[in-house]
Amino acid sequence: MPAMRRHYALNGLRLLHSTARPGAAAKPAPGGEHAGIRAATLQTTLTDSPKPIVPKEKLVFGHTFSDHMLAIEWTAGGGWGRPQIKPYGPLQLDPSCSVFHYAFECFEGLKAYRDAQGKLRLFRPDRNMARLNNSAARLHLPQVDGAEVIECIKELLRVDKRWVPEGQGYSLYLRPTLISTENTLGVHRANSAMLYVITSPCGPYFPTGFKAVSLYCDETNVRAWPGGVGNRKLGANYAPSIGPQAEAESKGYQQVLWTIGEDHELMEVGTMNLFVLWRNDAGELELVTPPLDGTILPGVTRESILELARGWGEFAVSERKVSMKQVAKASNEGRLLEVFGAGTACVVTPVHRIHFQGRDYDIPLDPAHPESQAGPIAARIYKTLLAIQYGDTPSKWSVVVD
Ligand code: COI
Repeated sequence: MPAMRRHYALNGLRLLHSTARPGAAAKPAPGGEHAGIRAATLQTTLTDSPKPIVPKEKLVFGHTFSDHMLAIEWTAGGGWGRPQIKPYGPLQLDPSCSVFHYAFECFEGLKAYRDAQGKLRLFRPDRNMARLNNSAARLHLPQVDGAEVIECIKELLRVDKRWVPEGQGYSLYLRPTLISTENTLGVHRANSAMLYVITSPCGPYFPTGFKAVSLYCDETNVRAWPGGVGNRKLGANYAPSIGPQAEAESKGYQQVLWTIGEDHELMEVGTMNLFVLWRNDAGELELVTPPLDGTILPGVTRESILELARGWGEFAVSERKVSMKQVAKASNEGRLLEVFGAGTACVVTPVHRIHFQGRDYDIPLDPAHPESQAGPIAARIYKTLLAIQYGDTPSKWSVVVD
């Protein structure tokens, strides 16, 4: 016989006993048709078999999951149901669900950090919620009230606090995922959906740790195109990257450099936004990243780096189109100083080599410290971001889970 589970409802952010029966189906939140998500109605069912914590040195990105998950169901007639925190486990979905057939799915990635006082912190979670809604809009999946979802996520973090590892470079990765649960095969808007959030303790994204990576500039495959969905965080953007990624690896490179057009305009690198530090054609020191023209993912780390670097006011900071041809020319002329990728999962990932049109372009990283794995600006950005994320530098970007 299963051990007794405890049930709580989140009410005004205080945990109270709820009258819900174990295993009770999610009921629509009060509010009638098109009800919104209401964190105050959150119900928690705790696991009766907590898992052992994996020592942080043994964590491999995305392999370990905490004890609980958040799930909120939606129907076209009833709106959002009651948020549920429940034991982590498989979803039961009809095989006809359109998520399986037509990629009706979008997701987010954010992290919870443990600060020096042991408090948990989120980094700009409002940005993730805004982006989730932007992704959902293209799929015609329902919108969420970001502030309410963040409150539910905070409660999930309180419940699974022991899963947030200590120490800079370690965190609990959160994966909000919105899927269609419509179980019909016609290609049409979803009449039912589910938002769920799973969490995974992690260290560095790449198995190599905080080390510079090599890129293979793919001249055949394109990640995104004007009018497409490159600026939305859809699962459908990621699966088609795996073939090109495997090809890059088979040639001895770690990540794909995505470009577009005859001049090979830079887009992204692997699953990250891309930054280049160089002396531009005018001889000016410039940090440049491709503009948000609809083909580029609007990364939260990308936005934060731009804001930080602009605040420093030490070099030009631009969002503009740059081609791989220009980067290759700058490298030949000794003007290419640093290249790095940026994203939630990998934070800042320096690049030490780019393969383009049959040639390797080596990037000096830090000439003063040849053993260094990052150029001085990438290293400074990394440290500055971490100090904010772990609460060492006070910032409005860091949201405490109290
Ligand atoms: C993130 O940085 O959060 C990402 O989405 C990358 C991921 C696909 C692992």
